[in-house]
Amino acid sequence: MSKKSYAVTIAGGGSTFTPGIALMLLEEHDRFPVDKVTFYDNNEARQEIVAKACEIYFKENAPWLDFTYTTDPEVAFTGTDFVLAHIRVGLYAMREKDEKIPLKHGVLGQETCGAGGIAYGMRSIGGVFEILDYMEKYSPDAWMLNYSNPAAIVAEACRMLKPNSRIINICDMPIDLMDKMAHMVGIKDRKELSYSYYGLNHYGWFTEVYDKDGNDLMPALKEHMKKNGYMDGIEMEGDKAQHIDESWIHTFGKAKDVYALDPETLPNTYLKYYLFPDYVVATSNPDFTRANEVMEGREKKVFGACKEIIEKGTSKGSDFEADAHATYIVDLACALAENTLERFLLIVPNEGAVYNFDPTAMVEVPCIVGKNGYEKICQGSIPQFQKGMMEQQVSVEKLVVQAWAEGSYQKLWQALTLSATIPSASVAKEVLDDLIEANKDYWPELK
Ligand code: NAD
Ligand code: G6P
Ligand code: MN
Repeated sequence: MSKKSYAVTIAGGGSTFTPGIALMLLEEHDRFPVDKVTFYDNNEARQEIVAKACEIYFKENAPWLDFTYTTDPEVAFTGTDFVLAHIRVGLYAMREKDEKIPLKHGVLGQETCGAGGIAYGMRSIGGVFEILDYMEKYSPDAWMLNYSNPAAIVAEACRMLKPNSRIINICDMPIDLMDKMAHMVGIKDRKELSYSYYGLNHYGWFTEVYDKDGNDLMPALKEHMKKNGYMDGIEMEGDKAQHIDESWIHTFGKAKDVYALDPETLPNTYLKYYLFPDYVVATSNPDFTRANEVMEGREKKVFGACKEIIEKGTSKGSDFEADAHATYIVDLACALAENTLERFLLIVPNEGAVYNFDPTAMVEVPCIVGKNGYEKICQGSIPQFQKGMMEQQVSVEKLVVQAWAEGSYQKLWQALTLSATIPSASVAKEVLDDLIEANKDYWPELK
């Protein structure tokens, strides 16, 4: 691409993450010159609160920026170079149901894992496809950098049903884990680390971590993991203070037990849901789940700050801050635009990158990114334990996409039954029937 300046559309303009990303784009302007920003959402009222506050902020801090917000896809997607997509089909009200319905049946409820993730996947596929269709119509050369969840299911849906779409799926969990690893060994910038990693999204393992001189950091990291999981890497203040609510702190601690299952690798935090589902259920409060924690925390904070800016008519003294952690999105856009050939962990078709694993699976592996897209870095063969787990989970993800495409009750029941988070086909059926009822405005009809 290599332009003097770029136009970016943020899809899911009303997201709790939008102000942080929008401000971060301004901060990174020297490196990635974005002179046109458009917010797009299908919920006018929600987006307006975020957009009006950002508009005031931009007028005060970046008067040169061409800023628009809209619910009209033609306005949003015409002439855009990058679409940063973080939509949540069904909003927090549906996330709450994803988490609470399975818990009623004694099964874990989580945003992207198990029954909750499956329910969310069945809603997200259509939402992301809709935006890809608009992009194809109005800006066919634009890239979508997608982090709408559940990214694993969205990615598989695109591979199967929209193989030519210009979408790159990325997740920030490994980025945060690398921040934590860097902190554990006293390195300031995670970008000094090089790593090997394989898995599915929210379902993977680091196999190697080196510093910039090629020294092996695994022995030191393993010592920390053995004692405290990722706890020693947590920073409660500054740029890297994210995932600091109580439930996240527990998750970083629980990584110690996940690590114990395979002390040769460093696990993704989300594996706790598949390896210790009984523990997760036992420690969950069915009346107050993560959705409630976010609605009372992040959502209130972001929307509170926006409303205050709008009321005062100024962003001076406001709580608005750039999400510095999200600069990996700028890094990725830069790599595509300027051919930087930087290394990223992306969710991509396997095609041999994990040698002894389904070539048609969407895997998360390191890739080199440049103007012409990404090139995978082979991770070789993986051990039986991980291979077995991944085969089970990738089958769940594939069955969800097939169920969505075919409107198949049978396949969705199979998907739930196969999930390591669900104890039997009968429980799977009970959960499914409740989820169908709760999702009737969002899912395709299942027969
Ligand atoms: P949110 O509910 O605050 O915001 C989502 C926005 O998307 C809402 O304003 C909603 O109206 C909008 N939306 C829903 N369907 C839409 C559609 N079809 N078209 C346009 N807009 C639509 O949610 P949030 O907590 O800010 O999270 C946003 C998304 O980002 C979620 O999917 C979340 O899981 C994801 N996320 C992913 C990562 C990652 O690592 N991949 C990290 C953080 C958040
Ligand atoms: C991590 C994951 C995301 C997830 C996010 C927010 O960063 O990688 O996929 O959406 O956490 O989770 P939360 O529970 O805080 O909304
Ligand atoms: Mn993620």
